[in-house]
Parts: sequence; C-alpha cells; structure tokens
Amino acid sequence: MSRTLLIIKPDAVERNLIGHIIARLERAGFRVLAMQMIKMSVDGAREFYAVHRGKPFYDNLVAFMTSGPVVPVLLEKENAVADLRALVGATNPEEAACGTIRSDIARSTERNSVHASDSDENAAREIAFFFP
Ligand code: CMP
Repeated sequence: MSRTLLIIKPDAVERNLIGHIIARLERAGFRVLAMQMIKMSVDGAREFYAVHRGKPFYDNLVAFMTSGPVVPVLLEKENAVADLRALVGATNPEEAACGTIRSDIARSTERNSVHASDSDENAAREIAFFFP
C-alpha cells in the first residue's frame, strides 16, 4: 500500500462536487485516510506550490487556491501516486483523457478542480504539509 494527496480545489468546492469526487476515488479503490476543509493562506499556498515559483502562472495559481475553501484528502491504495494521476488526467482538461476527473469537470488549466501529487517524494512532502 502507498499514500498520496489529492486536493479538491475551490472551483470544485464551489460547484458542490466534493461528494462526486470522493465517490469516484472510492469507486476506483482508494481508501480515504483523512480529509479536511480549509482556506489556505497566501503564504501557505506560496509554500505548497514553491516548485512553480517564478513561472508565469504562479501568482494566479496562488490567488486561485486562496480564493475559497479547498479539501485536501489523504488517500491510500496500491500504486497510489500513479493510479491517482491516471484517474485525475492531464493538467489541461482539453488534453485530459476521456473519463478522467479533469476531463469531466475541470474548467481550465488553472481551474482544474483537483491536484494530485506527482511522485512518492512529493506525496510525502504534500501529505506532511496538510496532515503533519
Ligand atoms: P496542479 O496539479 O495543482 O499543479 C500546479 C498547478 O498550476 C496546476 O495544477 C494548474 O492548476 C496550475 N497551472 C496554471 N497554468 C499552468 C500551466 N501553464 N502549466 C501547468 N500548470 C498550470
């Protein structure tokens, strides 16, 4: 078993899609170990996305992620990181495979409804960030 982190982003929370997303995760075999609803601080969002500092979308990303509540979810499954990335789909919903969460509900590359850790190393860091 391994662990990964998913964040339900403000655009999905605002559209009442928390339950929809959690149901899809459970149907795909993920176990929810912990979850919470929080409003990220600007400093917290800047730190969480520090790897993107300096990129053209960084300031807008931080503004979006602090624009409303988010729901970080700690998940467990065999091959959790890769399986969650496959379920979530590409960053740009127009490039996301049919049947993925982003293909079905994301609005744009920025408002893409969910975040999923991209490696075991980042999953450990991101899990510790929200669930110390
Ligand atoms: P996420 O998986 O949360 O990781 C970084 C986020 O930056 C990404 O999803 C998008 O929401 C956002 N983003 C905005 N513009 C871009 C871009 N051009 N390339 C990658 N990510 C972007």
